Formats: sequence, C-alpha cells, structure tokens
Amino acid sequence: MIAAAGSGERLGAGGPKAFVPLTGRRMVEWSIAACRAAGSVRSIVVACPPGHVHDLAGGDVGVVDGGATRAQSVSNALAAVGTELVAIHDAARPLVTPELIDGVVATLLDDADADGAIAATPVADTIKRTVPPGHQGRNAFSMDKDEKALRPQIEGTVERGELWAAQTPQVFWVEALRAAMAGDSKGIAAATDEAMLIEAAGGRVLIHPAPAENLKVTTPVDLKLAETLLGERSGE
Ligand code: CTP
Ligand code: MG
Repeated sequence: MIAAAGSGERLGAGGPKAFVPLTGRRMVEWSIAACRAAGSVRSIVVACPPGHVHDLAGGDVGVVDGGATRAQSVSNALAAVGTELVAIHDAARPLVTPELIDGVVATLLDDADADGAIAATPVADTIKRTVPPGHQGRNAFSMDKDEKALRPQIEGTVERGELWAAQTPQVFWVEALRAAMAGDSKGIAAATDEAMLIEAAGGRVLIHPAPAENLKVTTPVDLKLAETLLGERSGE
C-alpha cells in the first residue's frame, strides 16, 4: 500500500506532494512502478488526497480516499488489503527500488515469527540530546528575557551505534498490524510509522538495512536531490 494522501506543506509546491512532477512522472508513480516490478507484490492500493482519486483509478492500482492523518490514510488502505502480508510505503520516497521491497519482505519471511521488517539506514550524523526548555542551568535566569535563553543547549551525545533512521517500505503480517491498529486511537494518530504501533504492542520488528538514497522528499532541497538521482537512474 502506498500512503500518498498528504498535502505536502513543507514542500510548498502548491498541491499534494505525491502528485508533483518529478523527472517525467508524478512522484507517486515512481513508487507504483517499483511495486509493479517487485516479485513479492501481488496487488497495489494507494491512499489518495481529496480530488486525486480519479487520477490513478482505472488501471491495475486500487485507490482509496486518504484521511486527515497519515495513520488514517494507512487505516483506510489497510481495509482494502486481502493478502497475508502488507508492505506500507510512503509516496514521499520515490527512490524505492523493487529490490528493496523484495528485500524487506525476504527479511521478514526469513524470521517469520517476527511481526514485521522495515527498511532503515544507519544514522550518519552525531546525535545530540538537548536540555528541555526552561532547564538551561545556571545562567538561565539572567538570560530569561533574552533570546539566548531559548537557544537549545546540549545535554549529551546519544550513542550512535544502535541508531537507525526508519524508512519505508515497512512490511507486516496483516493480522499483527490490524491488531496493533485496533489499540488506543491517540497513540495511533501520533505514530509516525507503523513499526511504532507494533513496538508499543510488544511485537518484534526487524531491520532491513537500506541505502540512504531511499530518501524522503520533505522540502524543496530533497526534491532537487531526488530529481538528480532519478535522472541518473533513467540515464543508465
Ligand atoms: N500521508 C498520507 N495521508 C496523510 C498525511 C500523509 O497518506 N493525511 C502520506 C504522505 O502522502 C507521504 C507520507 O504519508 O507519502 C509521509 O508524510 P509526509 O512526508 O509528512 O508528507 P505530507 O504530510 O504530505 O507533507 P507535510 O507534512 O510537509 O505536509
Ligand atoms: Mg506530514
């Protein structure tokens, strides 16, 4: 399933992000093409933003209305899933490849007692944790009226060795995901990926190492990078 119903505020392209032109296709069509070419994919369903359902309907792709939140869009699409496994993918990651989709599926099937497997990339930056606002320490009072008092201040460095940046696709046994999504609705709305829901339910989710190239298009600079990388790919 492809989550494509977001409005794309941060990209600011004047329309839904999944439908912006990107190297000769609308963004979501790169993900659809990768799904079609993946041997593990049997059927495709896309959660679309209001007014765009008819843009994709009619072919081999199922289309459902998205919701106000990503979680709601995923939930709408999940209702249309009839297979035992589901791969959830964000249209905002147009650089996904058939190999990556099949690879994440294979990782889960390899350890089939697990509930899911997700694409993720090792964190490359050194990660700092900051002091919560209002706890800046000894000079905070004298700086109270100053902008400086609001400046984030480092509390410590997070050990990077065990950190992974979660991507999509995220593959789950449908039953496990449906059970996790039947839980507390506030937690579901706040979850930024589906693995979080399985984790909260005490489930086991595996990491499938993925290239950083499977980037998420969030801002205009990401779109430029995706354009360059996809341009190189179609030139190959
Ligand atoms: N998404 C969705 N339904 C929503 C919100 C998001 O299907 N109500 C999808 C987006 O289309 C995207 C993915 O979830 O493919 C990841 O979301 P994000 O990158 O945040 O996209 P947008 O919400 O569109 O962007 P922004 O947050 O900048 O508005
Ligand atoms: Mg969003």
